Amino acid sequence: MMEQDITISFQNVYQTYKDPKDAILKGVNMVIPKSDFCIILGRSGMGKSTLLRCINGLVQPYEGTVTVCGQQLKKEKTVLRNIRRRTSMIFQNYNLVNRLTALQNVLCGMLPEIPFHRAMLGVFTDGERARGLSLLKEVGLEDFSDQRVDQLSGGQKQRVGIARALAQNPEIILADEPIASLDPVTSEEILKLLKAINQKNGITVIISLHQLEFAKTYGERIVALLNGKLEIDKPAIQLTEKDIGRIYGLCDDREGVKLEVVS
Ligand SMILES: Nc1ncnc2c1ncn2[C@@H]1O[C@H](COP(=O)(O)OP(=O)(O)O)[C@@H](O)[C@H]1O
Ligand SMILES: [Mg+2]
Repeated sequence: MMEQDITISFQNVYQTYKDPKDAILKGVNMVIPKSDFCIILGRSGMGKSTLLRCINGLVQPYEGTVTVCGQQLKKEKTVLRNIRRRTSMIFQNYNLVNRLTALQNVLCGMLPEIPFHRAMLGVFTDGERARGLSLLKEVGLEDFSDQRVDQLSGGQKQRVGIARALAQNPEIILADEPIASLDPVTSEEILKLLKAINQKNGITVIISLHQLEFAKTYGERIVALLNGKLEIDKPAIQLTEKDIGRIYGLCDDREGVKLEVVS
């Protein structure tokens, strides 16, 4: 793969929140090409969120290197600012500002172009509003722009989260369990929307998920974390029962996984 076709690369990444003996990531190697649609699987606690946080520099490895959009991640403010501008994040709990409208939340994604106090006061230029409205239209919420987000359904809130992520004009969207609080039908709608954005805008999308069936249906590429290592990294259609057994373990008392998804 040519260097310019790579968006993210991990080289021998070790990360810990405490002590190297409690490392969460233990030598992760991973290359994500531009415009990839990648799903990260793994049991709860295996380090999916940690892996995503390494990509936008929210946490730093104590060994190894992470390179994002050609820039090696360092603690320096200018590097972090640069990389965070190019990566947007979507969360399980949406992380919206409840007392603001859908449009105001989307416009918050244009920070730091729009100062936060101006966003909080709802003072926007016509150009900013027009762009925010067109993003809400892109996620199917054009009729809800003036609605306070605490009055929206979970799926609608996540759509606002996606529009806010797009407002930043990112090259990469990191979605940390974006459907974990949603019902199955809404979950599929959100995954379809993320896939459409990936295909239309060529934005690299990386999603951590619990649900194996959704991962197999919507993922193009699946990576799986097990005991600190990237145990699996392959196209979704090549995922085997044996792989699934490895990811989720073979005993019955494992956390968060129902037997029927494995069979
Ligand atoms: N901020 C933190 N401080 C200390 N330990 C953490 C922190 N965040 C996560 N951990 C620990 O790191 C491990 C991996 O967590 P996480 O990356 O959230 O896994 P996942 O997203 O796969 O559930 C867990 O054991 C968790 O308790
Ligand atoms: Mg997590």
